[in-house]
Amino acid sequence: MAESGGGPSRLVKDLDIPFRVKEDLLSQGIEELYPPQAEALEPVLSGRNLVLAIPTASGKTLVAILGVLKHVIAKGKALYIVPLKALAEEKYHDFKAFEHLGFSVGMSVGDFDDLGRELEKRDVVVATSEKADSLSRHDLNWIERLSVVVADEVHLMHDPSRGPTLEVLLARIRTINPRCQLIALSATIQNSREIAEWLEADHVTSDFRPVVLQEGVFLDGEVMYTDNSRESFPHLDDPVVSVVSASTESGEQSLVFVNTRRSTESLAERLSLYLRESVPKDDLEALKDVSERVKRGDAETTQVGDRLANCISSGVAFHHAGLSPTHRRAVETAFKDRRIKCIVATPTLAAGINLPAKRVVVRDVRRYDSNYGNVPIPVLEIKQMLGRAGRPRYDTEGQAILVAKTENQREELLERYLLGEPEHIYSKLGTEAALRTHVLASIATGLVANDEDLQRFVDSTFYAHQTETWTLEDRMERALEFLEEEELITRDGKRLWPTKFGRRVSDLYIDPLSAVLLREAVQRAGVREEVTPLAWLTALCTTPDMMTFFLRRSDYKDIAELAERNRDDFLVEDVDDELEREEFLAEVKTASMFQDWILESSEDAISVKFGIGPGDIRAKVDNGRWLLYAGSEIARITGYSELGRQLRDLERRVSYGVKEELLPLVSLRGVGRRRARSLWAKGFRKPGDLRDATPDQLASIPGIGRVLAEGMIAQVTEGRGRRKEERTTTWEQEAGSNAEDHETGREEGSNDDGDDEPTKGEELGLQMSLTSFTKGGGGDDG
Ligand SMILES: Nc1ncnc2c1ncn2[C@@H]1O[C@H](COP(=O)(O)OP(=O)(O)OP(=O)(O)O)[C@@H](O)[C@H]1O
Ligand SMILES: [Mg+2]
Repeated sequence: MAESGGGPSRLVKDLDIPFRVKEDLLSQGIEELYPPQAEALEPVLSGRNLVLAIPTASGKTLVAILGVLKHVIAKGKALYIVPLKALAEEKYHDFKAFEHLGFSVGMSVGDFDDLGRELEKRDVVVATSEKADSLSRHDLNWIERLSVVVADEVHLMHDPSRGPTLEVLLARIRTINPRCQLIALSATIQNSREIAEWLEADHVTSDFRPVVLQEGVFLDGEVMYTDNSRESFPHLDDPVVSVVSASTESGEQSLVFVNTRRSTESLAERLSLYLRESVPKDDLEALKDVSERVKRGDAETTQVGDRLANCISSGVAFHHAGLSPTHRRAVETAFKDRRIKCIVATPTLAAGINLPAKRVVVRDVRRYDSNYGNVPIPVLEIKQMLGRAGRPRYDTEGQAILVAKTENQREELLERYLLGEPEHIYSKLGTEAALRTHVLASIATGLVANDEDLQRFVDSTFYAHQTETWTLEDRMERALEFLEEEELITRDGKRLWPTKFGRRVSDLYIDPLSAVLLREAVQRAGVREEVTPLAWLTALCTTPDMMTFFLRRSDYKDIAELAERNRDDFLVEDVDDELEREEFLAEVKTASMFQDWILESSEDAISVKFGIGPGDIRAKVDNGRWLLYAGSEIARITGYSELGRQLRDLERRVSYGVKEELLPLVSLRGVGRRRARSLWAKGFRKPGDLRDATPDQLASIPGIGRVLAEGMIAQVTEGRGRRKEERTTTWEQEAGSNAEDHETGREEGSNDDGDDEPTKGEELGLQMSLTSFTKGGGGDDG
């Protein structure tokens, strides 16, 4: 355990690190390491593996950065794995601050981050675990060349949907490259030592937190903190309003966590009525601009955008996975600039991120789970939320507050969340879906060539470290049988090989079951004269890689009718079993959203109809195009090239949200669904038609400004400013990103045509947006 007294030297000037690094740290205002940082530095600089499990805000990143710098200065290569895109962005900037020391940083999180093969040239790569997993499947050599790997928020191995990927990735790195140093950063959990044993790592833990965080429970206008102090608040109509108003009045920023998106919006709106008066004049001025930008920042105006803009003009914002990336970023930036005083968020902002919130209020400690109903949120997650308050760069103290309605509840909250310990974490590799996916990947990459290798692979996992592996045998057996029966692998005695199909499926980064379902759809399509878009889209939505919408009672009739009308067209069989039928209708409903999208329904109309936000539409679109691409590849390699081409066209339609007739026009840079439609209305049907147009003529079309008009003409006449299609990265390399549960990033500019005219500086350019948002309508907020 770290002691604050003696122990290793903590002054930056005395550390055993290069002088230039010291200078950088000092210039960033870091003069002294925190005690657990100093303790962790010894194993890190000696090249040993480390599990660092210390409280929120205790500076885990810096330890990892110093470890990474040591390697890259010696010409080594580093991978920094994060769970979320928003976090990737923060860490990327953390490394950027040191880049002048002579190394390069890259970030790999989304489809279009343009790294692709470039990635290998970067000395430090910040990537989400799915992306890193996908990259490693394509190129085991890259893993072999790494000299240090950081796993941030490693306790997320516990997450049922994403944990196995991180676990298998770490196991793979250790198998292929045993000399690579591993630095795992974890929240304080009960069994972090177990992770350390698994990784053969030193274990550093401590309860030190540099910024004192008072934790307490609100009841009847008063917060009782665990340090026995009390704080009273004015009685307003709601506890959150009381705390946040008082905080804003004393110039402090706050962050509120609630369990549904709808609550974020309604609570933010309610707060805006109270806060406006206590927001300083110059902030309100600045917020006017932010609000304006939010209003017109996206290609299409949406109700959610308007509501957000209204809140922002009073100093409050909401934040959830349904927001578009532009909006999310605007909110985060204005909060960091201390203009926005309060953000009401779903737990999308809970992990790892640094924000200037002096106070955090967690209003809801339960959330809806589709299997179990209303369940308590784990202690670990609540602690992560509470830990967003009081961050070193921003505040010298912080308060984290839970809300109780009764005396009993106060006791409960206190015991469970404030005085209680976070849970143990367990491997989630034991599900059949995780096993078939990762076993196939291991065989496809050649890492596993026979039964003994397979056993070695299993033995190398955290699952095996925690549990007797015989408990896996049955499920493993079934996973192997499935892969063999569906011809993803072949077996000869003890030898195991991937088939061509199996290898491709692993590269495409989809669940083998999805691949099998897509293959069946393609085979059925192969004997049809014609296949409707809805039929293809429904087929996509039946795969486990597409999270479907929830079927509301009120949807039932319409969707059932839609299903009935298209009955003969579907590539999947309708079912009679009641439960399965409901599942099928949910799939049809999801497919019908895609259908509306490619028939050029507005984002707002879709949002209203499906009860989702623009961020969800984007997440779905990314998800859909990735599966369509996978489908087209599967068609191609199974001998249905023509269907493959059909699917590619459909992929482009989904990507841009357009009818088929607009496909030629959207190939122009700077032209998305709206501008393409305006051009079409003026008689321009394909890029060549623009050749004889004058800039004035084009600039008079709504949504098209002068710079863009000139740019378009240049594209078609001189071939200047390559068209979009030519710069598209290879999907195989990029596919992995889409599998993330929590988000998906893409360029704002590529498919949208926002009102903002691209400036010359951006070369009709495409800015990246890396803010995170959740795949599907579920995820963070039930
Ligand atoms: N020794 C130090 N002196 C001053 N500031 C520091 C020091 N170490 C880290 N910081 C700052 O503390 C802040 C929090 O650090 P960081 O994000 O690494 O915390 P963390 O331990 O990863 O927290 P979380 O568990 O919430 O992810 C950062 O802004 C970082 O720059
Ligand atoms: Mg962190």
